[in-house]
Amino acid sequence: MTTRDLLRGLPVLAHEMPPFDPADAPDAPVPLFACWLAAAIDAGVDEPHAMTVSTVDADGAPDARVLILKDLDDEGWHFATTATSAKGRQLAGNPRIALSFHWREQGRQVRVRGTARTADPEVSRQDFLARPEGSRIATLPGRQSAVLTDRAELDRELAEVRTRLAADPGLVAEAHQVYSVTPATVEFWQADRERRHVRLRYRRAGDGWARELLWP
Ligand SMILES: Cc1cc2nc3c(=O)[nH]c(=O)nc-3n(C[C@H](O)[C@H](O)[C@H](O)COP(=O)(O)O)c2cc1C
Repeated sequence: MTTRDLLRGLPVLAHEMPPFDPADAPDAPVPLFACWLAAAIDAGVDEPHAMTVSTVDADGAPDARVLILKDLDDEGWHFATTATSAKGRQLAGNPRIALSFHWREQGRQVRVRGTARTADPEVSRQDFLARPEGSRIATLPGRQSAVLTDRAELDRELAEVRTRLAADPGLVAEAHQVYSVTPATVEFWQADRERRHVRLRYRRAGDGWARELLWP
């Protein structure tokens, strides 16, 4: 069997999925997102807080990777990473950003487009200190996205950092940075087995939000 045949034989959106009536949607996207996230957690979706984060580089070329959502509030969607990483440098040059969530079991997708802002240093510091030890050790070298010439170099650096952290548990990675994403548009997509998918987009309008349905 060719890869093409294999791919074409795979089912897509063929399972039971929850209904979504946009007429019942709230006035703003954050409460609806919180509701969908809670439903995904309740339904046992694996890593429901994993999202694809898309940025653009200095040439306008898109780049995307998976990150963990750390918080959601009136400021928007929060994540944490290393400011000197590829994505951190891209955001410093161009803060426009897109987040996409996919909750396969429920046939749901959420797309957020907006602007990333860096949180205050104290917020980033506290976020770092609240991380599990393994994550702190992994972040302390501060070299995310740099070229690694030798895996042994990574092991040496991690061992050194582990020793430093044991001696000074309050150690904080300087480049650890929390970002919040202020949304400009947020689209909620609910699959339908008959392909009558529902797309509801919130678009910022003045102090509030305009809501519109989109053709699937
Ligand atoms: C499920 C999952 C969760 C991840 N969470 C994070 C995260 O919260 N922060 C982070 O910096 N990288 C995280 N990563 C690693 C990123 O995908 C990426 O490899 C890294 O941030 C470097 O990206 P960059 O080179 O584009 O800056 C995660 C990867 C996966 C698969």
